[in-house]
Amino acid sequence: MDLKSGIRLHNLFTDGYDSVFINSGTLPYREQALEKVDFQGMNFTPLFEDDAYLPKRDWRSLSSNEINRLQADENRKEYNTIYVGDLPGNLKESLQKLELVDSKNREEVMKRFNANPEVVQSVSAEIQHFLSPISNNKPFHFHCIAANLPNLEMVACDITRLRPNFTVPEKRYIGLHNDGTQFMTLHTTYKFGNRITINLGKQTRIFYFVNLTMIQALNMLKKKIDVKKHQLTIYNIPAYFFKYFPDYPVIKILQKPYQYYIAPTDNAFHDGSTLGNTALDINMVYFGAFRC
Ligand SMILES: [Fe+2]
Repeated sequence: MDLKSGIRLHNLFTDGYDSVFINSGTLPYREQALEKVDFQGMNFTPLFEDDAYLPKRDWRSLSSNEINRLQADENRKEYNTIYVGDLPGNLKESLQKLELVDSKNREEVMKRFNANPEVVQSVSAEIQHFLSPISNNKPFHFHCIAANLPNLEMVACDITRLRPNFTVPEKRYIGLHNDGTQFMTLHTTYKFGNRITINLGKQTRIFYFVNLTMIQALNMLKKKIDVKKHQLTIYNIPAYFFKYFPDYPVIKILQKPYQYYIAPTDNAFHDGSTLGNTALDINMVYFGAFRC
């Protein structure tokens, strides 16, 4: 299926479209050969939720027509555009001083933050300086520092579905998904801003997305099924969408260390991945309504 004109990409990477790929769609996770995680004494094949869908692995570069369809124009907003780029040099240098990259787990990452209060202060000031001009005069705030194991095909999981005191190999990954909360409907997800995710790790990580808004995905599904009868919500729409549109392409972005992506993750199917990596994935997230 051809890319539709939907969510666009504002690409500020110095290597442009060398870091952007497209495929021919998605598969239920059971039909994909799964990679193993082997890190710090942990050795397991990740589990997935029953209705998890993964991108196919037939990645290729985009054609010039596809680039034209994806490339953002002056109408870019926080809800219809994914922005990617490199951090300013001073911020990158301050982050490097934290020496996070060889951390073995999230606790160690946090320890290194706590051990360097002066560096953290300059990082925080430089982040404010970087984000303020792109904040669209709306409030923004720190959300989290996350760590993911290397060689995970998909990184998102819903821990509320797990038993208390679950172990890492018991996590069930949800596959391509939209974020969102009980306060949103498929018609309002575009009103809830976006996030910036910065790669603080040692290796390139992957960001996957489908360039359709929730309203576009819903309108496509309306041509296939009675969406009222099936009671489509922000929670079940990915399973319906990937069942009925397995040939809709996924976009893959390679996010090198100290590069960022900004994405309306409530309003688009997406996930992160550390496939092929050997070191801990570390990233930092701020919420806002960023436009650049
Ligand atoms: Fe997500």
